[in-house]
Amino acid sequence: MTPTDQLAFIHRFVPASSPGRGETLLLLHGTGGNEQDLLTLGQELLPGAALLSPRGRILENGMPRFFRRLAEGVFDLADLKLQTDALAGFVSAVSHKYGLQSGKIVAVGYSNGANIAASVMLTYPDVLAGAILFRPMVPFVPTASPSLRNVPVLLAAGRRDPIVVPEQTLALGEILKTAGARVTLHWHEGGHELGRDDIVAAKDWIHVEPGEHPGKL
Ligand code: MLT
Repeated sequence: MTPTDQLAFIHRFVPASSPGRGETLLLLHGTGGNEQDLLTLGQELLPGAALLSPRGRILENGMPRFFRRLAEGVFDLADLKLQTDALAGFVSAVSHKYGLQSGKIVAVGYSNGANIAASVMLTYPDVLAGAILFRPMVPFVPTASPSLRNVPVLLAAGRRDPIVVPEQTLALGEILKTAGARVTLHWHEGGHELGRDDIVAAKDWIHVEPGEHPGKL
């Protein structure tokens, strides 16, 4: 892939407005969303942090996504691999362009965006310093466990989610834990839509100092 291709994600970048801890939030929208969707959430989670928000490059009936699927919950694994490579390449190329601190990029993904974030973590364990994954599934099962030692991950699942059954989130949690990640699980009593409690849990989680996450699954 050429450097030009790596920058070929439509995206919004909001520079940091306060020095903070130097994190950049990588905002990854759900199916049918775009690069604008999670900017307000990002500002609320970590005020003043830099925000990098790409738009998924796949169109499903006109709806942007981060990778193709064959049916609801059935992923096109070849395309997932391609798009995972492209997103990881984009993050590294724009980090250079915007002068982002390496090792300080934290993903915030919802649904399809959470799934591509998990795929990046399992494929390129050094790209993300942590992740907040709202309503995630297992994107793919890695053949060898990557090394995600002490990487903090918050998984926020809906007990009554008809799209992502709780077992999917638990299975992803086990894969991440086996890889050494510090996994915290938040249960929302409702379904696929985010609730206020999800945002509060994410704020509590992100305001813990890096390295202090307990890893509760
Ligand atoms: C979605 O609709 O986005 C699914 O729940 C997750 C996915 O397809 O990645």
